[in-house]
Amino acid sequence: MASSLSPVSKFDPKNMEFRYLGPTGLKVSVFSLGGWMSYGKHVTGNPVKDCLQAAWDHGINYFDTAESYFKGESEIAIGQALRELDWPREEYVISTKIFFGTGRKEPNCRGLSKKHVVEGLKQSLKRLQLEYVDVVFAHRMDPNVPMREVVESFTQVIRNLNFAYYWGTSEWTAAQIQEATAIAEKYNLIAPVVEQPQYNMFARERFENEYAPLYSSFSYGTTIWSPLNYGILTGKYNDGIPEDSRFAKEGDFFKDTITRLRSPEGQEKIDKVKKLTTIAERLGTTTAALALAWCAKNNNVTTVILGATKVEQVVENCKALEIIPKLTEEVLDEIEGILQNKPEVKQQIWTQR
Ligand SMILES: NC(=O)c1ccc[n+]([C@@H]2O[C@H](COP(=O)([O-])OP(=O)(O)OC[C@H]3O[C@@H](n4cnc5c(N)ncnc54)[C@H](OP(=O)(O)O)[C@@H]3O)[C@@H](O)[C@H]2O)c1
Repeated sequence: MASSLSPVSKFDPKNMEFRYLGPTGLKVSVFSLGGWMSYGKHVTGNPVKDCLQAAWDHGINYFDTAESYFKGESEIAIGQALRELDWPREEYVISTKIFFGTGRKEPNCRGLSKKHVVEGLKQSLKRLQLEYVDVVFAHRMDPNVPMREVVESFTQVIRNLNFAYYWGTSEWTAAQIQEATAIAEKYNLIAPVVEQPQYNMFARERFENEYAPLYSSFSYGTTIWSPLNYGILTGKYNDGIPEDSRFAKEGDFFKDTITRLRSPEGQEKIDKVKKLTTIAERLGTTTAALALAWCAKNNNVTTVILGATKVEQVVENCKALEIIPKLTEEVLDEIEGILQNKPEVKQQIWTQR
């Protein structure tokens, strides 16, 4: 068991901001740390522990992973690090995600059937060496499983099995989330409370427009991913692909992204990153910290999930916390002038609930 019996607290929140996870009473740090494309393959052993410790030392209490990240290796690496760090289990929040499986070919070892939600989460907990996660996400919607079965499955892992306290969705449509919520109400099941969508300066439409009714009708929470657009918003790809970078190490996976980055559309993106750098420098920070603070400035963001392969990246990215108050209306307008991609929000207020 990872949890220590010692009543002594190991967590110091420092100046971290905490936000409620949607309509729940759970508080998570506005910046969190995730294990995609890093922990379990490119980063293993002590460096994983060091990144988690650096996050913790900055007041981060929330960590994210998934069954599918490096076919379960990310959960194993994070679980091992947590065991060695020996933080009291009550002092951190962890989520995992079920849907893609771990690469097994048997057809029931993926998806959102009751069988895979229950068995997949059971396997995740074994890899993480934990008795429960705080939040379990449906990593995608499974169009082949009736919505009632999906909601029943997540209710079962929470209500009957105590494998998790809350459940959420990831990259579901707003309509699917509304349907799941309605089914939960009708059949006395547990509704999802949080979405895990992509959100960053270059990916805004779904988060700002499609999901708008979720915030106003359900107080739906969000744990947003790829806040640096895979690293592009650090400026590290301005002059090509550095050797020790994600695009170099995972070239096959990011083939299309790299091709687009080399196109005129990609050059436009890079020009915008360069202009953002001038604002960052004026504010006395880095482009990465500016881009992360911009995400956190949005009140509909519960937590910005950081990705980091090195301790120095965790430290640099946590500086974003100091930049949030510096994003005045004038600075935000200046950023909009560079990005030129503000979605038109056609907010419809749902009356359900
Ligand atoms: N639900 C989903 O479908 C989904 C999908 C994707 C991610 N996620 C979650 O979101 C988390 C964050 O996503 P992400 O890793 O794509 O976030 P990101 O912030 O867009 O990219 C993080 C990567 O950029 C590079 N980087 C970060 N800070 C840097 C800095 N200061 N200077 C230079 N390079 C820097 C690092 O890669 P290199 O050092 O290797 O270049 C790092 O791993 C994931 O870990 C995962 O938990 C969820």
